[in-house]
This record gives sequence, C-alpha cells and structure tokens, in this order.
Amino acid sequence: MTSTGQYIVAIDQGTTSSRCIVFDADGRIVAVEQQEHRQIFPQPGWVEHDATEIWTRVRSVVTEALGRAELTRDDIHAIGITNQRETTVLWDRHTGLPVHHAIVWQDTRTEALCRELGRNVGKDRFRRETGLPLASYFAAPKIRWLLDRVEGLRERAEAGDILFGTMDTWVIWNLTGGVDGGVHVTDVTNASRTLLMNLHTLEWDARILESLDIPAAILPEIRSSAEVYGHAVGELAGVPVAAALGDQQAALFGQTCFDAGEAKSTYGTGTFLLLNTGEKAVNSYHGMLTTVGYRIGEQKPVYALEGSIAVTGSLVQWLRDQLGVISTAAEIETLAETVQDNGGAYIVPAFSGLFAPYWRDDARGVITGLTRYVTKGHLARAVLEATAWQTREVVDAMARDSAVTLTSLRVDGGMTSNNLLMQTIADVLDVPVERPLVAETTALGAAYAAGLATGFWPDLDTLRGNWHRAAEWSPRMDRETREREHRNWLKAVERTLGWVD
Ligand code: G3P
Repeated sequence: MTSTGQYIVAIDQGTTSSRCIVFDADGRIVAVEQQEHRQIFPQPGWVEHDATEIWTRVRSVVTEALGRAELTRDDIHAIGITNQRETTVLWDRHTGLPVHHAIVWQDTRTEALCRELGRNVGKDRFRRETGLPLASYFAAPKIRWLLDRVEGLRERAEAGDILFGTMDTWVIWNLTGGVDGGVHVTDVTNASRTLLMNLHTLEWDARILESLDIPAAILPEIRSSAEVYGHAVGELAGVPVAAALGDQQAALFGQTCFDAGEAKSTYGTGTFLLLNTGEKAVNSYHGMLTTVGYRIGEQKPVYALEGSIAVTGSLVQWLRDQLGVISTAAEIETLAETVQDNGGAYIVPAFSGLFAPYWRDDARGVITGLTRYVTKGHLARAVLEATAWQTREVVDAMARDSAVTLTSLRVDGGMTSNNLLMQTIADVLDVPVERPLVAETTALGAAYAAGLATGFWPDLDTLRGNWHRAAEWSPRMDRETREREHRNWLKAVERTLGWVD
C-alpha cells in the first residue's frame, strides 16, 4: 500500500510525556500535541510507568494533532516512532495487558543484581559484545527482575505467552493491531540499549541471554531504523509504520549529524551527547557507551559514542515538584538571574547513581559548599551549572576515546529555551553552542527516517538542507574561573560516590 499523503506523523513517547508532531516536506511543524503520564515512585530509587496509560496518551495525542491540523489518514504518508529508551514492559500477548508497571530507565532497583552479575569479572563483562557496562539503566536487568519477582511469569514467558518491549515495541505492537496481529519488532538503536544485542551482528546474543537467564521467546525481531514494519489500524488505518529510533539517536538524525565527527547534545529529563563515529563501533575506555546511531534499510549501520547523563531537566522538576522552590520549570532561569554566581554551592544530582563517565550505581545526590550566605538564587544557579559540568565531563571523556575535539556543540531539547543554561554550557565547554530552528529534533529525526523509508524524502542531502541555525552562544568565562569551578565540581562529585553500600 503506498500513500500519497503530504505529511509525516512522528510519535515521540518520552519519559514524562507522549507527543505527536506532524511535519511537512520542508521539515516544518504543522501540529503538535502533548500529554503527560504519571511518574510512579513506589520506593526510593524506583521509577515506574503504566504502559496502558501511555498507550492511551499516545492514541489521544495522535487524534488531537490530526484534528488540530484538520488532517485525516489520507494526508499522512508514513508514521515514525521515537521513544524513551531502556524502559521495559512485559505483557501478555493474548490479552495485551502489561504484567507489571513498566520499569523506567532511571530506576535503580537492579543495582544489587548488576553488582552480582559483575562479581569477579567487573561491570564490563558484556561490553565487548554490547558496548555497555552492567548497570541498572539498561533493559536486561529489568527484564530479569520482572521474571524473578512476578509470580508465575517465568513459566508463562518460557511458554511463549509473554512479550518484551521497550516503548517503541509497545507502541508499534499496539498501533499495528495489538492482540489482533500487532507486529512485535524493535529497531537496532533501541535493541542496542538492552544489554542483549550484539553490536557487531545486530542480533540477540545467545550467550548473554543464557548468562542472564532470559528466554529468547519474549524478544522482538530486530529491524533497521527506517523500513516499513507494518501498517497502522484505527485512526491512521493503512498508513505505513516506517521508522523507529531511540529518542537520542533520533535527535542525532534530526540534527542531521550524518557524518563521522558530528555530535549533538539533547537536554531533556536527562542529557545525552552522541557523536557519530561512522561505520566503526568505537570501543570506549573512558565511560562512554558504544551504541547504534541508526540503520537505514539494508545499509550498513552507523555507530555512535554516547555520554549519558541521567539527571538534568529532572533536577529542575525535582526543585519544582518535590521542593516547591519554583512553580514552573521556566522560573529556574529567572531565579538564577537574581544572583551573579553559585555563592559557593554545588549540586550533584546523582538520583539514579551517576551515569557517564562514572557508571556508579552506588552514588547518591549531594548539595555541598553550603553556608548561611547561600540563597535559593544560588541554588538555582547550581542546578543549571550541574547540567553544564556534567556535559563537560562527557565531552572530556569522549575526546579521550575518539580523539575528536569539539569545535562547537549542536543542542536541542526542552532545556535549550533556557538562555542562561546555554550560555553556561558554552562557558564551561569553551566552545560555541548552537541551536537549530526546529528544536524538536527528536520527533524530526523519526519523521526523517520514516520519510526516507517511504520515498517521501529522497536522500540525506535533502534533509541536511532543512537544518538552519536559530541561535548561538559564545563562551565568555575566563580561564581561571572555569578551572576553579571545574575543580570544585569534581570535589563535589567525589562526595556522591559510595553512598549506597
Ligand atoms: O535513555 C533514556 C532516554 O532515552 C530518555 O530520554 O528525553 O525521554 O528523557 P527523555
């Protein structure tokens, strides 16, 4: 079935909300709709989502976005999916019902399990095959936890009654029919975050499955990031579902970082800096992840090095929701502008342990350098600086791994509307920071991939032509200040380590 539609629908199933964005052929946004879902925190360190609620939200944002743009399924050429990665759901293939809440990527409940799996061999036990350290961040330990803890689940899984998915898989399965013939697939970028896919063969690794005692019967088929997986049912009936990429890889694609050496950093709940390394999967010795950047159809995969930072935007949300220091996320900038500097205070938000470059599940957050002088304005500065310094640590580690020295940084994501933050990042990195005109690069990347798979766009050069710079921040901080602040930041990080026994 070919479509003559003039628009591409991107579904972005993120950590805090689901969005539907409709793009035209110039990559311009025609309609956006967004709905949040509940964040469930059953215990310290645990984070869950209700996958059924998420699917309801996804359907609803699609309906609303189409309505807003006055479009019907005949106007839509293809659908691309992008998603929060690693978040894990298991469901019953006969009823379509999840067997448990989804375990979110930020959840640290499997910290002890990961330590046990790495005992005597270290946390790089599966790094050669998967590009990842053993950490509670990834999907495999979460699957294992569910199989061990949900009564009777292992038997049902082994009998072939249970399906596993990250959010791409869950959305595509439901979108293409669910219990009535939904396709059970994932793409290489999402699969590369499970700790179960061999990066070099792009297949599930039988040896790792055996080591982790995870039955292959629950796993989706691994496909490329841009190809037709199936066709939608319901409102978009018959429209090809033609792309899936993890949200950070989608942003790399949406920023048109198609050449080796090009990088982007996305500032959302967490922050993820990806550097395109071309057809070579570069091993990291400095705490980066080796991951699949994207794969278009049958072409060779393109790899990336990734510096993942667990907590950036979610630190602002914490200040708003848990502490009530601000009432909107945007207020953080106004509050930080009331003072000149951090007043000596530093916040290291190791809420989910520390991700790159440390990979320390045993770290927990600290606020340090407190004196009576410190006001909430100083703390607001420290919040923004935490994002900037975490970026700096990732950039430094990546330079050691790849020998690529950044000359500028392309940024995107919700936090890039914060000018003070963007200036601070330029200051601590000492390179210019640039933001594109379409800041919705995650959804755009999924749309681009779906459009390439279905002939809506002819080639990568056409997509490159759509990239336009909207804003740039140049470094202004003097070297002495930068070096002093860097030292202080590293001292504060030291204080987070080893908190959990
Ligand atoms: O790896 C987690 C990442 O994919 C989450 O992204 O934008 O939903 O916070 P975001």
